[in-house]
Amino acid sequence: MSSTEIDRGNWGSKLGFILAAAGSAIGLGNIWRFPYVAGQNGGAIFVLIYVIFVVMIGLPVMISELSIGRRTQKNPVGAFKVLFPKSFWKYVGGLGVITGIGILSFYAVIAGYTVGYFIKIILGDFNHVLTGDQSAAIFTSFTANPYVSISLLFLFVLLTVMVVMGGVSAGIERWSKILMPILFVLLILLAIRSVTLKGAGAGLSFYLKPDFSKLSLTTFARALGQALFSLSLGMGTMITYGSYISKKDNLVTSAAYVAFFDTLIAILSGLVMFPALFAMGLDPAGGAGLVFVVLPSIFAKMPGGMIFGAGIFLLLAVAALTSTISLLEVPVAYFVDEHKWTRKKAVIWMGVITFIIGIPSALSLGANSVLSTIIRKDFGFLDMMNAVFGNYSLSIGAFFISIFAGYKWGVHAVAKEIEQEGSIFYYKKLWMFIIRFICPIAIFFILSYIAWTGNYF
Ligand code: PFF
Repeated sequence: MSSTEIDRGNWGSKLGFILAAAGSAIGLGNIWRFPYVAGQNGGAIFVLIYVIFVVMIGLPVMISELSIGRRTQKNPVGAFKVLFPKSFWKYVGGLGVITGIGILSFYAVIAGYTVGYFIKIILGDFNHVLTGDQSAAIFTSFTANPYVSISLLFLFVLLTVMVVMGGVSAGIERWSKILMPILFVLLILLAIRSVTLKGAGAGLSFYLKPDFSKLSLTTFARALGQALFSLSLGMGTMITYGSYISKKDNLVTSAAYVAFFDTLIAILSGLVMFPALFAMGLDPAGGAGLVFVVLPSIFAKMPGGMIFGAGIFLLLAVAALTSTISLLEVPVAYFVDEHKWTRKKAVIWMGVITFIIGIPSALSLGANSVLSTIIRKDFGFLDMMNAVFGNYSLSIGAFFISIFAGYKWGVHAVAKEIEQEGSIFYYKKLWMFIIRFICPIAIFFILSYIAWTGNYF
């Protein structure tokens, strides 16, 4: 084994890969972002389109990314370079590297808040919270403190740096295996409490009964961004992760498992959030603070609620960590593979840059008035980064990846990679059709609509 192979590492097993990829996919995107974006975009109708996009766009793009990664054994930039040297495709990988830092910079802010909330609950700050308004006031004053926000951002970037420094299987796999199932159980318990609250019915129908009059093209655009974000697609994370999967594993079933669990957790967290939100008379379109406001008010109504509260925020922080390490892994793998940096140097530099870029986001939930209202009154710097990198960069990336898999590298090359060592490519013909015709056309149409109407945020 050469030293580079030792440096890159490999997943311990197929289950190890699925858990790690699910660890990347499942995170704040499911529990923080999904409910608030659904709340802002009409509830059930958004959920419906979201699920359709997971199946029709997310899954086919994930299969493409994983096969590019496993075939080339490289980071996103290197992968395109190996397949088509001297072509423009490497810039698609380059966009992914930049997007990784862009997303990580604001994601770590919210992840830091989950750690902050864990500490606050332990300190007893929520012992007297009963109403939604009280809970909202606590969140507002918490995020308005610049020192707290920046310190928590720093802490979270530091945690991510420490794990990524440890290398792939040792660092990532170990975390994912133990804690994700516990998170799942806690969410189920919370959902049960939430749907049995007085006045929960209105929330359930908002969340589950589609109102087609709320359907607009914007709903499609936001659902696309959310599906890609939640499945960690469009920036080469799954190319990077695919580069660590063994040739024996079936990429199609692995991808299906990841998409299934990711969607399950997102749907479940909506089931926690909306019934409680309506029961407390809060606004479903209230924005990025939603989980932080709603969850503490549910705990207040549960026996042993504060123990649940501490548990859920701790696990949320861990779920966020298994995602931030995948976000950091993309630029790190790029600098290690393409520029021959040591892993340590790459990790430290990317960590420092992420922290610096993250500062304006950390100050944009009330700490600094200019940053908090940079786009409009209720849309600050963090929201802007979230839209630019979390929706549009990923959508552009996914567009090019589907063109690449469908036409440039080609559907038969992808099939050959998937069918290694006797693996079956389930629904191969269907995938070929979708990746060539549905994915690129749908994404192109959505992006053109956004560009045409200027409805970016
Ligand atoms: N999928 C993660 C989540 O839902 O929290 C966020 C994410 C991770 C997005 C990795 C993109 C990515 F490449």
